[in-house]
Amino acid sequence: MPIAPPLATDLPPLLRTVRFGRPLRWLAETGSTNADAAAWAVEGVAEGAVVGAEHQTAGRGRHGRAWSDAPGMNLLFSVVLRPPLPPERLGLVPLAAGVAVAEAVAPWVAPVVPQLKWPNDVLLGGRKAAGLLLEGHLAPGTPSTLVLGLGLNVNQPDFPPEIVGGATSLALEAGRPLPRAPLLADLLLALERRYDALLGGDEAGVCAAFEARMAGRGIDAAVAFAEDGRPPLRGTLLGVDPTGALRLATPDGPRLVAAGEVTFQKGKLRREK
Ligand code: BTN
Repeated sequence: MPIAPPLATDLPPLLRTVRFGRPLRWLAETGSTNADAAAWAVEGVAEGAVVGAEHQTAGRGRHGRAWSDAPGMNLLFSVVLRPPLPPERLGLVPLAAGVAVAEAVAPWVAPVVPQLKWPNDVLLGGRKAAGLLLEGHLAPGTPSTLVLGLGLNVNQPDFPPEIVGGATSLALEAGRPLPRAPLLADLLLALERRYDALLGGDEAGVCAAFEARMAGRGIDAAVAFAEDGRPPLRGTLLGVDPTGALRLATPDGPRLVAAGEVTFQKGKLRREK
């Protein structure tokens, strides 16, 4: 599929990163940029390589769900990562990425304040504006090769009936359409900075920044475990631990959750702004 202007031509002069987005492939249409980036990683492309697309025909979300998009409206891209971190620290990568996306988006939607729903959904006004999907291979003894995919609703004006109540876009929150190339440049810079800080040992900084933006902190929630069929765990959201696991106060005492899906009781989530 050919490269899709104008993003492919508009981005390079705006790019302020050292590694992220270098090299960059931007496609008019593809199945999934995560799949494309994984294939590129197998070919040996450098860390930071980005594959983006104007439209995905088989976009992947967390928990085996599909990720749909309105062609040409949003930002859909994947970054190749090779973090030299032990497996128990990899849980912080998606958290750091969520923090970076929230930080990059914040000036574009002010005074709306982006929040993070653990592990890494970005919410605006209590609705999901972005999702991150980390996929990869963990080979003991070698740096893991991971693909971090971001789906950010930028200018999409409406959503399919099945998600309409829970989804939003930056344009809907900001009240105006937003230019995608400078936004993409901001996103790649924020992602690179938070990722590099994490590799440099700033785990506490990532956790503190995550908790400062954490949606539903201090309120009751349920954590579902679709993958293994365990019953949901109910409790009060406390924060995250140094590995990125969710800290929950349950009636049976404190619990840590490494993977799962958080839901709040309707109307419980406080809207920032
Ligand atoms: C989620 O379920 O919230 C994660 C959604 C991630 C979607 C993005 S879009 C770009 C990249 N390619 C994919 O197939 N998925 C991710």
